[in-house]
Amino acid sequence: MINFDGLLSERVRSIKPSATLATSAKAKRMLAQGIDVVNLSVGEPDFDTPEYIKYAAIKALCDGWTKYTEEAGLLEVRKAICKKLREENGLSYEPENIVISCGAKHAIFNAFQALLNPGDKILIPAPCWVSYPDMARLCGAEPVLIHTTEENGFLPDPAQIADAIANGAKVLLINSPCNPTGSVWEPDLLKEVAKLVERHDDIVVITDEIYEKFVYDGAVHVSIASFSERAKERIVVINGLSKTFAMTGWRLGYAAASKPIAQAMAKVQGQSASHPTAFVQMAAITALSAPQDFVQKMIAEYDARRRRIVSLLNEIPGVRCSMPKGAFYAFANFSGVLGRSYDGVEINNSIELADFLLERAHVATVAGEPFGAEGYLRLSYAISIERIEEGVRRIKEALTG
Ligand SMILES: Cc1ncc(COP(=O)(O)O)c(C=O)c1O
Repeated sequence: MINFDGLLSERVRSIKPSATLATSAKAKRMLAQGIDVVNLSVGEPDFDTPEYIKYAAIKALCDGWTKYTEEAGLLEVRKAICKKLREENGLSYEPENIVISCGAKHAIFNAFQALLNPGDKILIPAPCWVSYPDMARLCGAEPVLIHTTEENGFLPDPAQIADAIANGAKVLLINSPCNPTGSVWEPDLLKEVAKLVERHDDIVVITDEIYEKFVYDGAVHVSIASFSERAKERIVVINGLSKTFAMTGWRLGYAAASKPIAQAMAKVQGQSASHPTAFVQMAAITALSAPQDFVQKMIAEYDARRRRIVSLLNEIPGVRCSMPKGAFYAFANFSGVLGRSYDGVEINNSIELADFLLERAHVATVAGEPFGAEGYLRLSYAISIERIEEGVRRIKEALTG
């Protein structure tokens, strides 16, 4: 019997498979077996990509956009991204600042590879998206979590960030609106952090703005790069088409950064994926420049679902869920139901709870533990209101009998 542990790199053995993708895969396997699972674990819109974007891809394919492109992506597409960043985010960039990748996740990976040395510290406010710490570990870097609490709206105190910077961090990661908490960093907080960045020439910020359109209750999304031209030199803005245009499977994301960082990221990409699919890049021009009525309709629908899921969750004894201001996840505190037995099964933590709910109630959720928030579950509302109601009804029944 070969010992593969000895063959696999230490790098890969230091990371875990994505917890969210693992839960979704298990739910999909159960669905394939004919089990009626309500899948509240998904991280993607349930809407289909708008037809006009699909037709743009078909046309690009027929027009012969089937060859290699520049490693940073096609110039026309980078121009369209610059226009979007200027008009929607008030950020001025040239095409040489843009690197188009196979999804925002890939753009973040390129940024980490371009910036992080073994032993470097990267600050990540937690609870955080499960991929950041493991992507950092793949570079040999050390993720340093900045803990935030529900009482503070899952937002960090600038003093925590200042302390961590003083302790020698190289990169600060910002994810607003946030997966999993739905928190949205207010402009004042971002302005304060931008000032901190201005004062520390040795820190780089990576700002993941993939959920920028998903804000509710008057919350606004602002990019930290818009506050200071000096800080912007060391800010990498990450975004993509997956969530805004319901294009998760197309794999199209991008980064905007100062030229040396963008060039370094393009070099990483040039030696790995090369570039995203040519005709998908061409369709991105249509997605970014066409009127966004579809997006507005989608957001209105998410808003209604958000209110419904939060109100239903709060009706379950022992469960508390505050109203998220952004993204499409409810991040609910289930600690009041832990430490007890249900149907003969003792449940002591969020992983056991998520397993129990999937096995017994046929509802897929994601445990808070991998996000750095034991006692919580993340429930996606990127699913119809009827299924949300059915899912939460089943959870309530499983926990109250
Ligand atoms: C915070 C965050 N960033 C990035 C991504 C990845 O997006 P993409 O599909 O563009 O790779 C996700 C997907 O779930 C996410 O939640």
